[in-house]
Amino acid sequence: MCGIVGYSGCRTAYPLLMQGLHRLEYRGYDSAGVALMADAEEKIKVYKATGKVADLEAVAENQDCRGTVGIAHTRWATHGAPNTPNAHPHLSESGNLTLVHNGIIENYATLREQLRAKGYHFRSETDTEVLIQLIEYTEVSRGVSLQDAVRMALSKVIGAYAIIVMDRRAPGVLVAARKSSPMVIGLGENDSEFFIASDASPIAEYTRRMVYLNDEEMAVCVPGQPLSVVTLQNAEVAVDVQHVDLDLNMLEKGGYDHFMLKEIFDQPQCLEDCMRGRVLLNHKRVILSAVTEHRQALVNARRFLFVSCGTSWHAGLIGGQLIEHFCRVPAQVMYASEFRYSNPVVGPGDVVVAISQSGETADTLAAMQIARDAGATLLGVVNAVGSSIARLSDAGAYIHVGPEIGVASTKAFTGQVTVLTMMALAIAREKGSVSDCEYEQTIEELVRIPDKIQTILNQHDEIRRVAEHYKLASNVLYLGRGANYPVAMEGALKLKEISYIHAEGYPAAEMKHGPIALIDENMPVVFIATHQHIYEKTISNMQEVVARKGRILAIVTEGDTQVRQMAEHVIEVPETIDCLVPLLSVVPLQILAYYIAVGKGLDVDQPRNLAKSVTVE
Ligand code: AGP
Repeated sequence: MCGIVGYSGCRTAYPLLMQGLHRLEYRGYDSAGVALMADAEEKIKVYKATGKVADLEAVAENQDCRGTVGIAHTRWATHGAPNTPNAHPHLSESGNLTLVHNGIIENYATLREQLRAKGYHFRSETDTEVLIQLIEYTEVSRGVSLQDAVRMALSKVIGAYAIIVMDRRAPGVLVAARKSSPMVIGLGENDSEFFIASDASPIAEYTRRMVYLNDEEMAVCVPGQPLSVVTLQNAEVAVDVQHVDLDLNMLEKGGYDHFMLKEIFDQPQCLEDCMRGRVLLNHKRVILSAVTEHRQALVNARRFLFVSCGTSWHAGLIGGQLIEHFCRVPAQVMYASEFRYSNPVVGPGDVVVAISQSGETADTLAAMQIARDAGATLLGVVNAVGSSIARLSDAGAYIHVGPEIGVASTKAFTGQVTVLTMMALAIAREKGSVSDCEYEQTIEELVRIPDKIQTILNQHDEIRRVAEHYKLASNVLYLGRGANYPVAMEGALKLKEISYIHAEGYPAAEMKHGPIALIDENMPVVFIATHQHIYEKTISNMQEVVARKGRILAIVTEGDTQVRQMAEHVIEVPETIDCLVPLLSVVPLQILAYYIAVGKGLDVDQPRNLAKSVTVE
């Protein structure tokens, strides 16, 4: 989704801002722009382009890109088409002010009519332009400073925002504010320069000292002066400087053709990182600080409620199965977007588990807020350190798989499932709802998973060859049972996201209640038929497809012979225990989707219309 970078200091801003925008490309966007300022006597220079950051660089080439202060943006269209007039930054009526904005101003239409009546003109269809005009109108009509005008204007706004405002008349000054959309400020040595961004990735190469703004806070950055943060009510806020460690190598492709492929191949290492210090093999124990510190609430929970979206929702389905299996407590799994408007029955005694790679998904955040207001305990399972969901949680466990850049989530999914497994085991141990034997056997098997994933990755050439046979399909059905049912949905989501092939994930036994009508000799069906207690049942469902001449690609356990006789193609995964099967069976589906999309010549890391971090509802 939209990305923001800002800089003020002693360096030339333009190259730094462009590098920052490149770092933000993973979020998904459809246009980009930059505003630069050399000094107060000159106009603010704004360059914009539809398409990629490289298109913006082409527009700015040979233009005047001087200046040591600037703001830049990648836009993912919400209000108005993805075209140049709608791209950010937007200028105010006088041209003195310019603004970049992430989020949505919900009451923009009313505000725009009010401003039109005051003589303001609009060159775009965006809600963002309304905001910069409102700030200018407030400044002029109330005779207040820029900072006060920003505060007052924001208090009239309904919606979500992360903004930076730049003022031609005050070279070097940048004003940043946020509500429901992340904003981080990096501090240079002795406050000589400020780096502002919508996440830490574009600024981590310049500084590790970061200040995360909270909702309804505004920061004023003036090089040479300490950072000032106030609330929208103008109350001073103590500046909380955090040291953020971000491995910059993790932000690079490391020799792989795409981030997605790198992230698929990173999974063995990622899962080891995720388990480090938590799974103590020598002692046969799982220790999660969230469980230790919130033992009472978790052990006595009357219900676990999982809220999340997309791939994280699939992880939630597996989390629900794990909690019910190990802890014998009811678990409910809901899309965050449905939960928030469902008048949910939730309250004290419930543990709400929010799962999110980015930690910024708007629907998940809103669902958490409802649960918080109702008195539930909030557990966050998040990848992005310091993100909004992590901070809203009462307790949580980071998945620690490193930044995920590919829009299609891969290593975050297996990290989420690993954390949920550890969580279910740790809570079950405290409750006494799991036998010593099953607890220890699961731990022993969990630590073997990274090596087992590696054996699947070693088959990637074979999977690439299989993918060739499916790249011309227009529909694919994914079927699985038990723990492989969420995997079927995840496999289908991966395929549709990056290859644009229509795909559906279904519980295999449900097929006969409708989707079976689709089966004919042209319909590929991906069966996830690993050895589990319901293996024989899955085989029966497969027979139903064979009888209708469907083409079967099956994911099976090593050494399986039964399925081989029915399937056109077979991919093997190592044997494991039932509850850990998703950590293995999902991997060939990730690789399959990747090679089908590559075979079709598609942009795997930035598929059309998708955003990495969905910060609007
Ligand atoms: C996954 O491949 C998708 N890009 C998407 O479904 C994603 O999982 C969803 O938007 C939730 O994001 P989150 O994990 O950052 O909350």
